[in-house]
Amino acid sequence: MSTPHLGAEPGAFADTVLLPGDPLRARHIAEQFLDGAVEVNRVRGMLGYTGSYRGRPISVLGSGMGMPSCLIYATELIRAYGVRRLLRLGTAGSLQRDLKLGELVLATAASTDSSLNRRRFDGMDYAPPAGFALCRRIAEVAEPNGATLRAGGVFSTDRFYSDDPALLPLLERMGLLAVEMEAAALFGIAVEHGVEAGCLLTISDELHSGQRFSASQREEGLALATRIALDALA
Ligand code: HPA
Repeated sequence: MSTPHLGAEPGAFADTVLLPGDPLRARHIAEQFLDGAVEVNRVRGMLGYTGSYRGRPISVLGSGMGMPSCLIYATELIRAYGVRRLLRLGTAGSLQRDLKLGELVLATAASTDSSLNRRRFDGMDYAPPAGFALCRRIAEVAEPNGATLRAGGVFSTDRFYSDDPALLPLLERMGLLAVEMEAAALFGIAVEHGVEAGCLLTISDELHSGQRFSASQREEGLALATRIALDALA
């Protein structure tokens, strides 16, 4: 049985799935980090693989950009393939002046300008948290990997290009660390189904200074986050 967006056979995904936004990043992770990876999905070019890391079966699947896309894949993985742990691996813009390019953010909760979780929660404001056990594992393995990790709230936005000049100061004042586009959807669907979700982000833009990663910096930054994510999951 496949789903509308995943052509994988039943059982083709491991119970743990790493979710980069970019399907080519999923292929890169499968080729460079996993043992014995086989392709399990290519519907709509959203590449997915299953292999193992330190002997533990792990899948990696692109989530696409934005909450609707991420939510489609997370829902189908959980409901149709029985996935129990989902870890988003992505990039984000820094909202705090002391959070610099290349630093890692562990999202513990996600605020959003999307109505998605409000609709899930009968019009009230729902604060979707990350899974604690997964956060703890990521925090534990970050240091031996030579990374400093900032943990805290992030902002999941529907709009990459916002024209509201008041938004950045507001997000900064409310103590949110970084802006990205998927975590609130992923955490919401995970909590609702009693499965565990997490989100590990590499700062690729500083919104205050306008500084941004070069292509090689992006590669290096994501390699560190990938290693930490896989060590945490294995
Ligand atoms: N906004 C939203 N998502 C992002 C950004 C950003 O500035 N940088 C990386 N992902």
